[in-house]
Amino acid sequence: MVCLGNICRSPMAEGLLLAKIEKFKLNAIVDSAGTANYHIGKAPDRRMVQMAASKETPIDFLRARQFSEVDFQNNDLILVMDHSNYRDVLRLARSENDKDKVRFLLDYLYPEQQMKVPDPYYGTEEDFEEVYNLLDKATDALIKHLFNEG
Ligand code: 4NP
Repeated sequence: MVCLGNICRSPMAEGLLLAKIEKFKLNAIVDSAGTANYHIGKAPDRRMVQMAASKETPIDFLRARQFSEVDFQNNDLILVMDHSNYRDVLRLARSENDKDKVRFLLDYLYPEQQMKVPDPYYGTEEDFEEVYNLLDKATDALIKHLFNEG
């Protein structure tokens, strides 16, 4: 799961997937990262932490890190939140195989639309809730697609 800062969208997506992997006892590994280096080592944004806690999907234990080339080696799928994440991640790809791993997360919900999960960083509590709801639906669709569960 990749976004810009790795403190709002991608940790929430990771937390939702961790909860669903546990719920369905799936054999999957999930991680998240940001394309930027601004927040390395930090916990998620407190507004996302609060939204996550209110939905009983804790993310406070996650710590931000920066996406890097090795992530292509370590992951089968690299799911981005928006178009700038898409460009930034593709710029680090070393092969066609790397490039094929990069998809828009929301394509699992709205196929081939390349829709973005809006960046809530400068937004309101409602924006954080909208992001939570989108990520919840998109991670359900992802798990259905990959594992036929849910
Ligand atoms: P994220 O949100 O990419 O969903 O983690 C942002 C977090 C921080 C910044 C921008 C977006 N920032 O500009 O610091």
